[in-house]
Amino acid sequence: MNWLILLPVVAVIVGLLFTRIGLLGWVAIVWVAVYTVASYAIIPPLPSSIVGLTMAIVTVSLLVYISTDESKLASVRDPLVRFMVDRKYQNYLIAVVATIPVLAAARVYIQMNQPIEPPAVGRTIHPAPPQEMSFKGKKIDLVNVENPYRALEQSDPQEFALHVEQGRRVYFENCVFCHGDRMDGEGIFAHGYEPRPANFADPTTIVMLQEGYLFWRIATGGPGLPAESGPWNSSMPAWDQFLSEQEIWEVILFLYDYTEQRPRAREHHE
Ligand code: HEC
Repeated sequence: MNWLILLPVVAVIVGLLFTRIGLLGWVAIVWVAVYTVASYAIIPPLPSSIVGLTMAIVTVSLLVYISTDESKLASVRDPLVRFMVDRKYQNYLIAVVATIPVLAAARVYIQMNQPIEPPAVGRTIHPAPPQEMSFKGKKIDLVNVENPYRALEQSDPQEFALHVEQGRRVYFENCVFCHGDRMDGEGIFAHGYEPRPANFADPTTIVMLQEGYLFWRIATGGPGLPAESGPWNSSMPAWDQFLSEQEIWEVILFLYDYTEQRPRAREHHE
């Protein structure tokens, strides 16, 4: 609900209860109020077909209500007839008759003038990794690999903390410029890149991934992404040229530690 719209509508209606506006006025106000609430006050917005249906029902209900007895019908009809035949209202009548087509034309014009945008390109964010990769000549089995320092978290928390600390250094020396000092992908260079650097605090990135997957992405970066699901245009560097295997495992520890998340556990197949 958008209260900024709903409350004023209610306030206007309550205010009008203390005035004498006649049945025609009420009919108009109820119609406009329902339209305003249906079109603007409901979040998420209703589809325009539903708004149309609602307005059709409201219009018919109002007509039925007006025609229930002769005096109601007269109190709506008479002011309208007076407005149309009384010479004293002639100029207003001309204004109203002229505005209706102008409003209709304006509506069509606005609807037709939406800026044309290219369709959004769907990008696979997490392509399937290869079965194995080579890191500085060493084969790494990406299906079964574990972070060699992860077990220390239980067995030797002090030693584990040292590796996390190393990971912090690696992160702030290399990654912070793009991925940001809150790991939200808002580093000082981030605005220059499309796709934007990954936001590790977001629940759709590292929590959904295994550490072996991160190792592959960090070691091979944008250049290592499979060609099939491209174009990637990823500015993520291939870190195998700059970091040791140990540093990559350590920065992975730090990514999870800093964002207080856990890597996705490996499914064990029998
Ligand atoms: C020049 C900017 C830049 C730097 C520096 C950078 N990255 Fe990235 N990174 C990106 C961009 C852009 C993406 C998103 C596109 C992609 O997935 O390749 C990304 C994606 C990633 C992903 C994939 C996340 C996912 O959900 O798939 C990981 C992991 C990652 N970066 C880790 C790192 C680490 C660790 C470092 C530092 C050693 C680093 N990045 C440094 C730009 C950068």
